[in-house]
Amino acid sequence: MIVVQSIETRSLKKIYNSNTIAVNDISFSVEEGEIFGFLGPNGAGKSTTMMILTTLLKPTSGSAFVAGFDVATEPKKVRQRIGYVQQEITIDEYLSGRENLLLHARLNHIPKDQMRGRIDELLELVELKEKQDDAAITYSGGMRKRLEIAGGLLHRPKVLFLDEPTVGLDIQTRQKIWEYIKKIHTEYKMTIFLTTHYMEEADRLCDRIGIIDNGKIQAIDTPKNLKNALGSGIITLLIENKIAAAGLVSAIRKIEFVRDVTEHDGKITVFSSKGAEVAPMIFSLSTELGVTIQSISITEPTLDDVFISYTGRDLRDGNSSSYDQKKEHRKMKGIRA
Ligand SMILES: Nc1ncnc2c1ncn2[C@@H]1O[C@H](COP(=O)(O)OP(=O)(O)OP(=O)(O)O)[C@@H](O)[C@H]1O
Ligand SMILES: [Mg+2]
Repeated sequence: MIVVQSIETRSLKKIYNSNTIAVNDISFSVEEGEIFGFLGPNGAGKSTTMMILTTLLKPTSGSAFVAGFDVATEPKKVRQRIGYVQQEITIDEYLSGRENLLLHARLNHIPKDQMRGRIDELLELVELKEKQDDAAITYSGGMRKRLEIAGGLLHRPKVLFLDEPTVGLDIQTRQKIWEYIKKIHTEYKMTIFLTTHYMEEADRLCDRIGIIDNGKIQAIDTPKNLKNALGSGIITLLIENKIAAAGLVSAIRKIEFVRDVTEHDGKITVFSSKGAEVAPMIFSLSTELGVTIQSISITEPTLDDVFISYTGRDLRDGNSSSYDQKKEHRKMKGIRA
């Protein structure tokens, strides 16, 4: 089977104002037909990467290819083959939904005899047919985003770029947008490259995920493999006497199947390859050491756990104080970074 790469970057780097390294030597590829997600906190370098891939920004060094063309030397060919839905809403609020799409179609040189058909088809797809003649100013946030996505699809791109397609929307609207993205993918079978802050979004939509932080790709794989790499059960226990935590933590670290242990304020989290076998061992250890366990639970790893394990922080808290510490710890444990 021949695997065609829709997107490829080679040692891509972007330095703003000669001092901010936004994208730091990243190399990755996305196969044709994949939904690929770029997951990372604020300022990670997601939009910068996307702007380079969509030809809006020149890289400082390295190269990038989209739909088979070099973004630096053949930007026009790239532009003809991609759709780009920006992070910010760009529709004209004073035009109706249909008028917005007409304008978009004209700007993209869609043949006149095909305009009407394509607009009808897309309004149907994003369920805006009934509202097509209302001014976009009357649309909700979710409806505006759906209109933007329809606009990005008018010229039938081979690769669709969605920068934070659901940021700022409520959970129900977010889920609706996810449905549309899935539907678009099934219908048009194009490659989709999206960036997101939302773990759930990445988990549900993406075939593969790249975790980006500080301009570097920290991990890249399918959501399933990323979660499996953390083990088969994360054990969380709360202990009564916090002072005794350190002793218990170092004892747990010595258990054969344990990969990593973190402790914060009496809450101990154990990453292991065999959760069900490790839990009883933790019980015996705590009895031996005279530590009382208040509660214990075993959960399957989520992408949140994956993100924390690679970056040392929660995607939402934006706190980098534990970042270096955590990375150091990973290095010591020999976990790939
Ligand atoms: N035009 C610019 N000039 C200077 N620095 C910039 C510019 N655009 C972005 N940056 C910086 O580059 C880094 C990466 O920014 P980028 O917008 O790519 O991140 P992001 O992952 O998209 O973040 P967000 O989640 O907030 O959208 C940040 O440190 C940001 O401050
Ligand atoms: Mg961004």
